[in-house]
Amino acid sequence: MKALILVGGYGTRLRPLTLSVPKPLVEFGNKPIMLHQVEALVEAGVRHVILAVSYMSEKLAQEMKKHAIRLGIEITLSQEDEPLGTAGPLALAKKFLAADGDVPFFVLNSDVISDYPFSKMLEFHKSHGKEGTICVAKVEEPSKYGVVVYDKTNGRIESFVEKPQEFVSNKINAGMYIFSPKVLDRIRPEPMSIEREVFPFMADEGQLYCMELDDFWMDIGQPKDFLVGMCLYLTSVKRRTPEMLANGSQFVGNVLVDPTAKIGLDCKIGPNVVLGPGVVIEEGVRIKRCTILRGAIIKSHAWLESCIIGWGSKVGKWARLENVTVLGEDVNVKDEIYLNGVRILPHKGISASIPEPQIIM
Ligand code: GDD
Ligand code: MG
Repeated sequence: MKALILVGGYGTRLRPLTLSVPKPLVEFGNKPIMLHQVEALVEAGVRHVILAVSYMSEKLAQEMKKHAIRLGIEITLSQEDEPLGTAGPLALAKKFLAADGDVPFFVLNSDVISDYPFSKMLEFHKSHGKEGTICVAKVEEPSKYGVVVYDKTNGRIESFVEKPQEFVSNKINAGMYIFSPKVLDRIRPEPMSIEREVFPFMADEGQLYCMELDDFWMDIGQPKDFLVGMCLYLTSVKRRTPEMLANGSQFVGNVLVDPTAKIGLDCKIGPNVVLGPGVVIEEGVRIKRCTILRGAIIKSHAWLESCIIGWGSKVGKWARLENVTVLGEDVNVKDEIYLNGVRILPHKGISASIPEPQIIM
């Protein structure tokens, strides 16, 4: 089976992290976001993954080649000359997606994290026999998503509205689809939105079904949601593979620590913390609800809550960082600094406190 992942543009909403690394390669729970998806697809029987990109990324190509070999699958980059939106890339990759006769294929948004019930999706898709199946999740704030109304008895979608102005339902498009190749007849290799120009029509014709997710789901394309997703992910790790989580008196709740990370004395870490490879946490540090990426150093007695600390960054002694502060790669925050909701671009030095949310160029 085949799968296409909509990798898209520059991941501007996940800046400053995406200034150093393409969004799919940003580590989430110590693994590139995209690998969570690719590995789950492989488990469901996918042997060829097409990454639909609207820009060229050597880094992405190289990294994915490595994983293709490791997983024994094929990974192809399908590059657009101009961004083709969320539908156009399917037409561009038609020669791959339609190559196996009637065999359905998966399509994923690249920024969604979940337990990925791909085998269950495939089974359900075969059972109703129509053109498409999408996963739906229940959210509090549906207006920033595609919203669906459907028949609870069989999953048939009655209407699909992308980012509605008024409340329609709290069941939303989770960005994970499985399609029969027939759907390709609806799509042209030009800029086209699957949510606005394809799904509403499929729904009208009774060709679109949905499967409700019963596990966690999150679009992690923005720092605030990345952290919410991290908490949900760690809860899921706790349930499925609790042995992966850290144990010890310095840890509170669900904490994931790479074996090469070093932690000093008298620290209190957690709940909901991810420490990447080579991370150094000096003594007396307090961290909750944070991801600390590869090679970052948190100096003694720093206090961090709801932050993402970029690769190789340094946080000084007695510093206090909070409220979705995100440091890009190689940022140096001096001792005793206070940062509140600040995004800092790569390679900056910060020597004065910033008490109000802002972006530091
Ligand atoms: N190749 C390619 N080319 N990919 C694209 C392009 C493009 O021109 N434009 C967007 N993408 C990719 C993005 O990288 C992302 O993986 C996916 O398509 C969806 O785009 P987003 O920009 O993340 O959309 P969204 O989050 O506002 O809304 C989408 O996702 C929601 C779930 O998270 C929609 O599908 C909603 O209906 C859905 O609820
Ligand atoms: Mg998104």
